[in-house]
Amino acid sequence: MCGIVGVVGNDQATDILIQGLEKLEYRGYDSAGIYVTDGKTNHLIKAVGRIAELRAKAGDTVGKAGIGHTRWATHGPASEVNAHPHQSQTGRFTLVHNGVIENYLEIKKVYLTDHDFKGQTDTEIAVHLIGKFVEEDQLDVLSAFKKALSIIEGSYAFALMDTKDPETIYVAKNKSPLLIGLGDGYNMVCSDAMAMIRETNQFMEIHDKELVIVKANSVEVQDYEGYVQKRDSYIAELDLSDIGKGTYPFYMLKEIDEQPTVMRKLINTYADAEGNMNIDSAIVKSVQEADRIYILAAGTSYNAGFAAKSMFEKLTDTPVEIGVASEWGYNMPLLSEKPMFVLLSQSGETADSRQVLVKANAADIPSLTITNVPGSTLSREATYTMLLHAGPEIAVASTKAYTAQIAALAFLAKAVGEANGKKEAIEFDLVHELSIAAQSIESTLSEKEQISEKVAKLLPTSRNAFYIGRGNDYYVAMEASLKLKEISYIQCEGFAAGELKHGTISLIEEGVPVLALISSSEAVAAHTRGNIQEVAARGASVLTIVEEDLATDTDDIIVNTVHPYLASISMVIPTQLIAYFASLQRGLDVDKPRNLAKAVTVE
Ligand code: G6P
Repeated sequence: MCGIVGVVGNDQATDILIQGLEKLEYRGYDSAGIYVTDGKTNHLIKAVGRIAELRAKAGDTVGKAGIGHTRWATHGPASEVNAHPHQSQTGRFTLVHNGVIENYLEIKKVYLTDHDFKGQTDTEIAVHLIGKFVEEDQLDVLSAFKKALSIIEGSYAFALMDTKDPETIYVAKNKSPLLIGLGDGYNMVCSDAMAMIRETNQFMEIHDKELVIVKANSVEVQDYEGYVQKRDSYIAELDLSDIGKGTYPFYMLKEIDEQPTVMRKLINTYADAEGNMNIDSAIVKSVQEADRIYILAAGTSYNAGFAAKSMFEKLTDTPVEIGVASEWGYNMPLLSEKPMFVLLSQSGETADSRQVLVKANAADIPSLTITNVPGSTLSREATYTMLLHAGPEIAVASTKAYTAQIAALAFLAKAVGEANGKKEAIEFDLVHELSIAAQSIESTLSEKEQISEKVAKLLPTSRNAFYIGRGNDYYVAMEASLKLKEISYIQCEGFAAGELKHGTISLIEEGVPVLALISSSEAVAAHTRGNIQEVAARGASVLTIVEEDLATDTDDIIVNTVHPYLASISMVIPTQLIAYFASLQRGLDVDKPRNLAKAVTVE
């Protein structure tokens, strides 16, 4: 949610900043800006819309240092005045910020009553505060920054520049991600290593409540008391080709296509050559000791929790409860005696999930983060981490992380079930079954053209639609409908097929698309088919997605049958493609749907 970049000591500063922002566009893309300086001339360039607009406006502006920002609006609409960077009253200081300053109105009232503000952002207040402490109260810059940080409450990653010292970037962080990139004779700042991987693969982490003074040839990390902190750098395991689109028109399609490979990567990571589970024994023990597993997550990850719930319970005998993180942070239900929290999060940065983790840590509840991003906040702060190994997911609509999360939970459940001596777990040949699921995904992926044609017929101008299913298919329906509405803007509900008749069926009229998912067993299939008849009798246009063993000649999309524990993985694939084609056929930006961001670092 909002991306920030900075560079000091490189003649190509403008280009490095803009290329970095392009890589961070997934974090927000409603407006952007850069501040670049060559020590004599300072340029502040902002644009509403995508980074391409900013690039056009920046033209051949040159500089040796600068900071930049791509925004997902929180305080004030997307406009040039609200776009970052923001400047202090006199224009001496320039600041970019990711996060939310909770007490910004109070700060304005207490310290800045005589200041003029151009926009409505909390960030503008922060930079005015720093400027006031230097220019009105005569503090040196570092002391002023520290004083401001001691007053500011909330989440932030800040990068600050001073026109009087154009060779330094001051950064600070609390609850929002920020890294230092180490170049050869120059240094960088970024929200995500992806932004600067073109320049370097050597990065340095910053912890919460640390301040860093970044110059071309030095990086000094301090805590807020001013004590210098020793910090080693690390090599980011990220390849330039991982973050490119290759020949794909959109990242989403590339990421959908990568799913068989991700499944195989998980097999290689979490099982050995003999098919034995290869999971950290401390994690297994911790799950074994819990009397209930609480999976907390947001968006697609929340849906993945549901998709894995029944499989996890059957393999481990441990009850699993799923919670929506944005609610649990404030509205924690009564917990069992020995709870364990599992944070599911592609990015590992979702503020809602972090809020729950903070509470779990305070209550000494053991926690496991299952994430795609090593070193992410949720990974660092949880007791344990399991990685998804799905490679960077860049499209805002999550696809491969969903299937990877279900698969990772399957490995964990089997390992725990085996440790518990549970027959189902011992007999479940996960490596074999997941290989079959990977093949099933491949088979569905080879049907793209047919699926695209069906979408063109079913959803050409629809404003609304329904996905229905029973059992695991209901949970897949939840994810399928989220995917469709996120990127095609068709209002879509995922519904338990049997529940439709208890109210919602009143919405069915001539031509309303109903997409029905059928997997699992003949009995379940028969019931769902009954529900299909009910909607068809009321005029619905029905499309069926059915596992091969349960399919008839009249079904629309056939999915190769897989083990019932893994059916969510194979059944979701056609629904990802349906969402993709619906968005594409409407001429929308598949990867960057309106109003959304990939990593939501505000609550
Ligand atoms: C955002 C994204 C969703 C994602 C959700 C949770 O809202 O747009 O696609 O599912 O965050 O993200 P996480 O990184 O925690 O899985």
